[in-house]
Amino acid sequence: MMYGLIGIAVKKLVETEMGAQAWVEICDKAEFPERDFIKTDYYDDKLIFELVQQVSDKLNTSTDEVLKKFGHYWIDFAISEGYGEAYKIGGNSFIDFLKNLNKLHLYVATSFSNLQPPHFQVVNESEQDFDLIYRSTRDGLEFMVIGLVEALATKFNKTISITDVIKDSEKVLLKVKYI
Ligand code: HEM
Repeated sequence: MMYGLIGIAVKKLVETEMGAQAWVEICDKAEFPERDFIKTDYYDDKLIFELVQQVSDKLNTSTDEVLKKFGHYWIDFAISEGYGEAYKIGGNSFIDFLKNLNKLHLYVATSFSNLQPPHFQVVNESEQDFDLIYRSTRDGLEFMVIGLVEALATKFNKTISITDVIKDSEKVLLKVKYI
């Protein structure tokens, strides 16, 4: 299950980029007649993935691209929804922020008590590059992580390249290089 906040972000992104009518059509195709989310209610992960699928069908692109775009959008969306305090926990640099992501989500969990947060770990850190390990109870969100990491780098005026994404049964490892 996922909190409605995620769905609100999907809806807002679609309405901004594709228009209100597109959202209506996407919801019809995804068999989601409510077309609206309540921030603190729970929704089946399947619904979110189905909406992402319908967006990608409509744009003639892959779900990976849609998830990446969503990752790019998420940080500013979260801040605009009043999660600036959580954002502050991230700290003042790109690498600190990545290291503080678990703390950030723990803080978010104080208002969303059943949060199933992602887990991140920075390893093999050097001046030039590092590896980011991502663990989740969910499968298939690594492109959202790619979008998030890229957006976060931009926020801290870093230019990065994700040179490899290695997935196994329990984690995803992203190789990140500064350029
Ligand atoms: C102010 C900033 C942020 C807030 C308020 C926030 C909050 C949340 C919330 C509410 C969820 C939904 C979890 C659920 O419903 O169980 C979530 C999921 C997630 N967040 Fe954050 N987040 C923030 C920033 C970030 C950043 C910067 C990253 C990564 C670089 C990140 C990575 C993720 C991922 C990957 C998920 C999907 C859950 C999963 O993988 O299972 N978040 N976040």
